[in-house]
Amino acid sequence: MIKLIIHGGFFSESGTDSATKKAKQDALKRILEDGYSFLKNNSAFETVIHTVSLLEDDPLFNAGIGSQIQSDGKIRMSAAVMDGQTEKMSGVINIQKVKNPIKVAKVLIDFDDRVLGGPAATDFARKNGFEEFSTETEQRRKEYEEKLKSLGTGTVGCVAIDSEGRLAAATSTGGKGFEIPGRISDSATVAGNYANSNCAVSCTGVGEDIVSGAVAAKIVTRVTDGMPIGKAFEKTFDELKPYDGFAGAIAIDKSGNFYHQDSHPKMVFGSYDGSDFQIFD
Ligand code: GLY
Repeated sequence: MIKLIIHGGFFSESGTDSATKKAKQDALKRILEDGYSFLKNNSAFETVIHTVSLLEDDPLFNAGIGSQIQSDGKIRMSAAVMDGQTEKMSGVINIQKVKNPIKVAKVLIDFDDRVLGGPAATDFARKNGFEEFSTETEQRRKEYEEKLKSLGTGTVGCVAIDSEGRLAAATSTGGKGFEIPGRISDSATVAGNYANSNCAVSCTGVGEDIVSGAVAAKIVTRVTDGMPIGKAFEKTFDELKPYDGFAGAIAIDKSGNFYHQDSHPKMVFGSYDGSDFQIFD
């Protein structure tokens, strides 16, 4: 049994028109197919990185190419990967001008330091062969210039189970858009991306709410302690309600059960197990 599930943030980004929605759904299907084919011959850990890098390469999504622009006109991105087998996580926060932040996070996992932030993360990328690359798109510049502050709560992510039952999670984001430079996203924290041998979770939504709710870490801990995955989601999302937390999450457990939930509608995500595509909004 091999399976994967991916998310591409919320439809609220870059409009909710039907053409954008269809384009995102088509992109998810294409990326799921590619990710599934990769998973046949690779581990869950390698697969979540590969699949998130494809999402980063698609300008429709707010990660890598197509990342949103911050209040000072610059793009800063964050990404993390966690191997459920080894329980090692690595991430980069507020990295600039690299095509695939998730690939920088992957290189970092072999170092003793787990998460790098700001210019040091960018320096680390350059020292490790990542060339300068502008991830700005015309669409994001237009949104920035028009100061169209949409909900801006999207991110991309992937969770997978491989043929040996190993789980992994990866998440990448361009942030929430128009933020104060230096703001920390949830995506490279255990609140936004977490996995062990029982469950793997990737989140999207407002980073501040996801961190307040420790969403990914709570769901994984609850499943590990024996709570069914559906109940773990329900309890964790109930705990967001007092402050109207805006979050969405996808997960897979060690039995290959998929799960997803969002606090507000319209998270775009899809799953594939080799026979059955499910694309949702
Ligand atoms: N969830 C992405 C962010 O708030 O940065």
